[in-house]
Amino acid sequence: MAKKRILVTGASGLLGLNFSLRYHGEYEIIGVVNQTKLSHLPFETLQRDFFNDGAAAGLIETAKADAVLHCAAMANVDQCEKEPEAATFVNGTVPALFAEEAKRRSIPFLHISTDAVFDGEKPGADGYRENDAANPINVYAETKLAGERNVLEANPEAIVARVNFYGWSISGRRSLSEFFYRSLLDGNRVSGFIDVVFCPLYVSDLARILSRLIWSSERGLFHVFGSRLLSKYEFGVEIAKTFGFDPGLIRPISWRDSGLTAVRSPNLVMNIDRLSAFLGGDVPDGIGGLDEFRSDLDSGFVKKIQEVRWN
Ligand SMILES: NC(=O)c1ccc[n+]([C@@H]2O[C@H](COP(=O)([O-])OP(=O)(O)OC[C@H]3O[C@@H](n4cnc5c(N)ncnc54)[C@H](OP(=O)(O)O)[C@@H]3O)[C@@H](O)[C@H]2O)c1
Repeated sequence: MAKKRILVTGASGLLGLNFSLRYHGEYEIIGVVNQTKLSHLPFETLQRDFFNDGAAAGLIETAKADAVLHCAAMANVDQCEKEPEAATFVNGTVPALFAEEAKRRSIPFLHISTDAVFDGEKPGADGYRENDAANPINVYAETKLAGERNVLEANPEAIVARVNFYGWSISGRRSLSEFFYRSLLDGNRVSGFIDVVFCPLYVSDLARILSRLIWSSERGLFHVFGSRLLSKYEFGVEIAKTFGFDPGLIRPISWRDSGLTAVRSPNLVMNIDRLSAFLGGDVPDGIGGLDEFRSDLDSGFVKKIQEVRWN
């Protein structure tokens, strides 16, 4: 039987590249990249800048895709504050163009969104549910929320997965996990926020779930988060322990003392009842994923990720 073809946008990004490198055997991956030049990839790529007229249109046709995983975004929170119009277009408008086209062709469309659509002020341990009112507190979050709404309006059959994840990227600098790893490896002192909590997944656990979700009959907003709540400080300490670094190098601080440009949502406890039902109760957690985070380094997978950058 012919392999299913998945169009993966943002294939040079943290999620898109990890998904594509892990699943190019199971699927025919057609990855869309923009400014990052890649080489020696084991899957096909197309270069498009969504700012160019019509760049998104026609991609599904060109790729002869059986499904679309839309990972591309302006995902740098501080850059979105500086370039709100660009963020509105890439995060808010473009996803709906793909969603509409996927609907026209009756193929699955999985759009990636974020826990940051919530303000992080909800009290209690139950966490944010899919249908809780969102309240974005920075430009990135506002534009991602617009993207969710536009996608579901254009294509009610679409799945909008809100996620938070960590992993290894092309640059080695894209994720918080890489920041802690590199700093601690060099013996540098770093700060970890004690008042920003999240429920991350290792990108490989996330990719496994997305690979099932995309063919499922699920529709609408869907929380895909780890089952364990962590502060960013605790996360850093767990990374230090995983690699045998000194956790004392991490200074616990408040994000308010950090000088960051964009405001952060402090308390991102996410309800994953729907995910748990989908997975039969077997939801991975962010600390459990650190073993694979380490083994991906030891086994050479990270080298493979970083060697695909063209230079
Ligand atoms: N990273 C996280 O912790 C996190 C947390 C919650 C949600 N998310 C969401 O997860 C998704 C993936 O995030 P990520 O961390 O993998 O992002 P990333 O590493 O920043 O990658 C972004 C991707 O989008 C592409 N892109 C950006 N602007 C484009 C444009 N104008 N035209 C075409 N492609 C464009 C980039 O292409 P080039 O690099 O080739 O230019 C890159 O492949 C996003 O929807 C993000 O909002 C991420």
